[in-house]
Amino acid sequence: MLGLTAPAIADTPLPRIETKGGRHALFVDGTPFLILGGQAHNSSNYPAMLPDVWPTIRAVHANTLEIPVAWEQIEPAEGKFDYSWVDALIPQARANNVRLVLLWFGSWKNTSGSYQPEWVKADLKRFPHMMTRDGKTHYVPTPLSRNNLEADKRAFVALMRHIREIDPDHTVIMVQPENEVGSYGSPRDFSAEANRLFAGPVPAELARKLGKSGTWSQVFDRKADTAFNAWYTARYIDEIAAAGQAELNLPMYVNVVTSDPGDPKAGEGGGASGGADWPMLDVWKAAAPHIKIAAPDIYDRDYRVVNGKFGKMARADNPLFVPELGNDLPFARYFWLALGKGAIGVSPFGMDPTYSNYPLGGLNTPENLEAFASKFALMAPIARDWAKLAFDHPTIGFAKGDDASDQSAVLGRWKIKAQYGAWAFGDPNATWMKMPTNPTRDQPVGGAALIQLAPDEFLLAGSEVRISFERGRTSVGWPWTLHDRRGRHVRQGAMGDETPLEWRSDRLWVEPDEADFAQGSVRQVSLIFYRTQAEGGRDEPQTVPRG
Ligand code: DGJ
Repeated sequence: MLGLTAPAIADTPLPRIETKGGRHALFVDGTPFLILGGQAHNSSNYPAMLPDVWPTIRAVHANTLEIPVAWEQIEPAEGKFDYSWVDALIPQARANNVRLVLLWFGSWKNTSGSYQPEWVKADLKRFPHMMTRDGKTHYVPTPLSRNNLEADKRAFVALMRHIREIDPDHTVIMVQPENEVGSYGSPRDFSAEANRLFAGPVPAELARKLGKSGTWSQVFDRKADTAFNAWYTARYIDEIAAAGQAELNLPMYVNVVTSDPGDPKAGEGGGASGGADWPMLDVWKAAAPHIKIAAPDIYDRDYRVVNGKFGKMARADNPLFVPELGNDLPFARYFWLALGKGAIGVSPFGMDPTYSNYPLGGLNTPENLEAFASKFALMAPIARDWAKLAFDHPTIGFAKGDDASDQSAVLGRWKIKAQYGAWAFGDPNATWMKMPTNPTRDQPVGGAALIQLAPDEFLLAGSEVRISFERGRTSVGWPWTLHDRRGRHVRQGAMGDETPLEWRSDRLWVEPDEADFAQGSVRQVSLIFYRTQAEGGRDEPQTVPRG
C-alpha cells in the first residue's frame, strides 16, 4: 500500500538557499543559480495565456518565470481541488527550458483577499476581516482568524503536495506564499480580540530576539500597531509555509512593499502596515523562520530610494532578491546595482504583452524589452558562474544616480569609479579634448556589477558605464593601460549543464583607444575579466576562473 502512494523519489537535489560569510546563493540542481526572471501579469495564470507568455520570456532571455497560482482557481469549491493550471504550466516551462517561481495568491494579494475563493469571500462570519479603529469592517482578511489560516493552509498544502507529485526534477525552484501583505488605511486589526492581545506582552520569542520585553506599545512605541500586525501576519504565513514545506521543501520568500528609507515615519502605520518592510525585518525574522527572504518589489525610479531600499533589505540574514522590478527602461540599470549587492535574482514585472501597468511600470515597447533583454542576454550563459563567484567573493554594484554624477566605492584595496555619459578617450573630465555631450548623458541608463575574484582581479559586467580603478594614492585612471579581454561567453548548454566556464574572445583588447571600458559599453553591454595592474607587477593574460 505504502509503495503505491509514495511520491516519486526525485534524483534532483531540492533547490535551497545557502548563506556563508554574509553572502547568499540559491542552489538549483545542486549548484548556484542566478534568477534572470520575468514575472507574468496577474491574470496570465491560465493555460490560454501561456502562448503569449513564452515568447516574451524567451525574448528577454529569462531563465525563470514567476507566475501566480490563485487559491480561487485551485479550490473553487470547498475541498474540491483543480490542478489543471499547474498541470499545464509545469511541462510547458520544462519544454521552454525555464524554471518557475510560483506566487500563491491566497489570503492576501496586494493586502486584499481578492484571490480568495467565492466561498471564502462570501462568508465574513466564518472568514473575518480586520476591524478598523472606529469599528468598521476593513477590506483586509485578519491574520488573527484560525479559520482563515486553516482554510488557506489546507489549499496551499494540497498545491505543494501536487507539485511534489508532478515535478520530481524541480522545475519549480521557489514559492512565494501570499503577495504583498499588510494593511493600507488601518495599521492593524482593532477587533476586541486584537485589542486584548495588543494590550498584553509581546510574545516571548520576539522579546528574546529583540532583547526587550513589555507590552507592544512599550517595546515598539510609535511602531507598535505595525509591529503587532507584522508579527501576526508573519506567524500566519510561516505556519502555511512550514506546512507546505513538509510536503515539498522548497525555499519560500515574501514580496514586500517597502518604505522610503528617507522617511522618518517609516514603520509607523503608513504604507502596507505589517508587511516585511525594513523597519519590521527583525520582527519577521523572529516570527517566520520558514520564510528565507523578505524581497522588495521595486517600482521607484529614483536612484536614492532604490539604493536605500537595497541597502536596507540586503542583510546577512536576508538575501537580496528583487521579485518585481518595474519593466520600464529606467528601472533596468538597477539590475546591475542589485547584482552588486549580491542579489540571487532580479525579475521585471509584467513580462507578457497581455496588459501593461504603465505608468507604474512600462509600456510594452521594444525599447523597454531590450533594456532588460540586452543585460539578461549577456548574463544568461554565465548566470551560474556569476552566482557561484558572487557567493565566494565580494561584490559591488553601481547604477547611474539621478544627477548622473561620478560614483565611487572601495573594494579591498581598490577604489572603483563609475562614470556615466562618457565617450572613449579617457576621463570625461579631462580637458585635453573638447568632447560633445554624449547622448546617454541625460538618459536614465548605466550601471555595473563587479566581483573581486582576487585582490587585483575583477569580473566586471555593465552597460553604458565607464569604470576605472585607483589604488591607494596611485591612480590607475587609464583603464586601457591594463589588459582586459572582452568577448562573449560561449557555453550554451541545456539547463543544469555543468560544462566549465569557457571564455572566448576573438581578440585581446589592449589598444588604448578601443580598450577603454567606455568604448565598449556606452552603447552596448559589455562583460570583461579585468586584472588590475599591481604596483610593480606586470600584466598577464587572463586565466578564466572556473565556475
Ligand atoms: C505589486 C504586486 O505584487 C503585483 O502583483 C502587481 O499588482 C504590481 N504591484 C502592480 O502592477
